Amino acid sequence: MRVNVSEALQTRYSVRGYKPDPVPEELIREVFDIARWSASGTNTQPWHVAVVSGDARDRLETELCKLFDDGVPQGSVFARNATMESPYIDRRRHCGFSYYGVLGVERHDKQGRIAVARKNFEFFGAPHVAFFSMPSHFVMPQALDMGIFLQAVMLVMVEKGLGCIAQGSLAGYQDAVKEIADIPDGNEILVGLSFGYEDPDAHINTARMPREPLETIASFTS
Ligand SMILES: Cc1cc2nc3c(=O)[nH]c(=O)nc-3n(C[C@H](O)[C@H](O)[C@H](O)COP(=O)(O)O)c2cc1C
Repeated sequence: MRVNVSEALQTRYSVRGYKPDPVPEELIREVFDIARWSASGTNTQPWHVAVVSGDARDRLETELCKLFDDGVPQGSVFARNATMESPYIDRRRHCGFSYYGVLGVERHDKQGRIAVARKNFEFFGAPHVAFFSMPSHFVMPQALDMGIFLQAVMLVMVEKGLGCIAQGSLAGYQDAVKEIADIPDGNEILVGLSFGYEDPDAHINTARMPREPLETIASFTS
């Protein structure tokens, strides 16, 4: 199925259930080879992406799940959370509740919510995970470039028939990831991206998140 950019944007969603089948390496390389044409401030191209597959992916899952199960605090040199007021906090809560709702996890079911959070470190069953990093002293303009690159990767994946999910949570255990993934010295991970072929039978993939109307997010002055 070939899609144009508008269709890719409007049909993409976060995939949280995958088939185990690996994606051919040639296709993975093609996705990033296209995405590297993304724009960046003064063409700095601050991004680096480290793709982890196969045995390495399985070892990493084991390591990250162990840290999560042991309750090891997550951290990064990049601030990972901002104070949030309405309407942002409302949207965030709505996102969490709709996601738990599709999974049948009740609001007060703490264990159920922990099990759902753990799925991040299982890469939601995806056979591949990519880590997007940039030099650790870089700041907001470079993070903006990283987001543009990430979006490009996600849209090209839609075009190529792949599913994916961006995961800020995969920036939480930097040292463990750096032990296994090939991340340049001095870089810090901003976000991970699990990807592969979507499992059409995974109920979680029926979750769809709404968007604010144009009038709320844009103003037009003349
Ligand atoms: C930078 C970024 C980080 C994200 N981190 C996570 C994450 O750690 N875990 C998760 O389940 N979803 C994560 N998401 C997915 C968002 O929840 C999702 O994109 C949002 O709810 C909109 O839904 P949609 O992608 O299905 O349109 C992340 C998305 C982005 C863009």
